[in-house]
This record gives sequence, structure tokens and C-alpha cells, in this order.
Amino acid sequence: MTTPTPSATAGLFIAFEGGDGAGKSTQAALLSDALAARGLAVVTTREPGGTPVGEKLRSLVLDHGHGEIDARCEALIFAAARAAHAAQVIAPALERGDVVITDRYIDSSIAYQGTGRGLGAETVGDLNAWATEDLWPDLTVLLDVSAAQGRVRRTAGAVTEEDRLESEPDEFHAGIRAAFLDLAAASPQRYLVLGAREPVDALAQRILERVDALLAARQEAPRDEAPLP
Ligand code: TYD
Repeated sequence: MTTPTPSATAGLFIAFEGGDGAGKSTQAALLSDALAARGLAVVTTREPGGTPVGEKLRSLVLDHGHGEIDARCEALIFAAARAAHAAQVIAPALERGDVVITDRYIDSSIAYQGTGRGLGAETVGDLNAWATEDLWPDLTVLLDVSAAQGRVRRTAGAVTEEDRLESEPDEFHAGIRAAFLDLAAASPQRYLVLGAREPVDALAQRILERVDALLAARQEAPRDEAPLP
């Protein structure tokens, strides 16, 4: 697999990753609000989705009732949605100098399709590097959640049925967790790993501190030389 290299653009690209029920959406929204309150231009988006075609692909791949979707087909649908998202939303925003915050990105495919479905991390990583023209985040915030905690959190008070991936058994989700942790361990400078059980406010504070460090480094050094904290 090509070595992931953060985007060489004016903007800042942040991805939130983690198992189902980790609280990514909450933390992505809190970070977005905190940065926007300072007057920064922030684009908050999610995968699968983020574009009209991506939202259609989202329901195709997540909803029950479309018949059998085999692993390669599933991986290609996620990658197709991501290709549109990267080209139409993320890359233009980064070129403008915006902060882009996405709820899930390539690591989700590496974990769910590469490991969970057994297609291989490298194969799925390469597919998605191609789909996004090698557009990788500057920082990935991994909210680490065990399979059991994740199940409790996503089913507590749930009003909607679990989607095709969420409804997989705990062993599947345990593999996903390990895959995310492996990705973070391989490139610690590009990841912030936090336990999803920490209080919401404490998590938000730690995420903001890390993002502030990245923004400060960016102001001090030209983009190409910006050190990663
Ligand atoms: P998500 O939108 O985070 O779920 P929700 O908001 O309903 O909690 O993600 C939907 C599901 O899609 C989730 O189970 C993870 C899965 N997924 C993949 O399997 N591969 C991918 O590339 C992505 C982006 C998501």
C-alpha cells in the first residue's frame, strides 16, 4: 500500500473513526462548533454520503433489503461514494483553506471491508488511495470502543433498526476495533487515540488541544514544512 501522506493543501483535514457506538458524530459536531465559533471556515461531512450520489450509495449499502451484497461489491460501493466525496467536497474545501471534518473515511473501509470482510487491509487501502487520488487526513481521531460497549451504546434508546454492518456479531466488531488500533499504532504522529468511555467534555477538550497544536504549527511554518505534533 502507498504510504498515506497528509494533504499538501492550505486547509486542515480531520477524520473521526471508531466502531459503531463510539460517539464520533457527537465529537465531530463539537469540534466543528468550537472551530466555527472562532471564525474558521469549517466543512463538516460524513461517510458514506456527503454528496447526492454518495447518499444514494449509502442507502444502497447500509439498508437491508437489497439482496445479497458480497464483500467486493460492498468495498467498491464505499469506495465509489468516497471518490465522489473526495473530489466534490473534501479536496475543493481544502484548496480553499477550510478545515474539513469527516465522520469516517478510508480507515473505516480498511477496518470493516479489509479486516471485517476479509478482503485485506492492503488491498482495500490501495483501492481507496486510488479512489481519492491519495487524499489522506492530516489527523485521524480514533474513538476506541469495545464491541460490547459499542453494542450497548448504539442500542440504548435506539429507535431505528441496526444497519447491515452494525448488525454483525460482536466478534466482527472486535476485529474492527483491532484493525483501527493497528492503523493508529503504525502512524502514531497522524492519530489521536482516545477511550470512548471518557466523559464527552473531556474528550472534546483533548481533541481541540490536538487540533490547536496542528493549527499553530501550520501558522508557524510554510505548509510543506509544517511539523506534525
Ligand atoms: P455510520 O454512518 O458511522 O453509522 P451511524 O451514523 O448509523 O452510526 O456508518 C455506517 C456503517 O457503515 C457503519 O457500520 C460502518 C460502515 N462503514 C463501512 O463498513 N465502510 C466504510 O468505508 C464506511 C465509511 C462505513
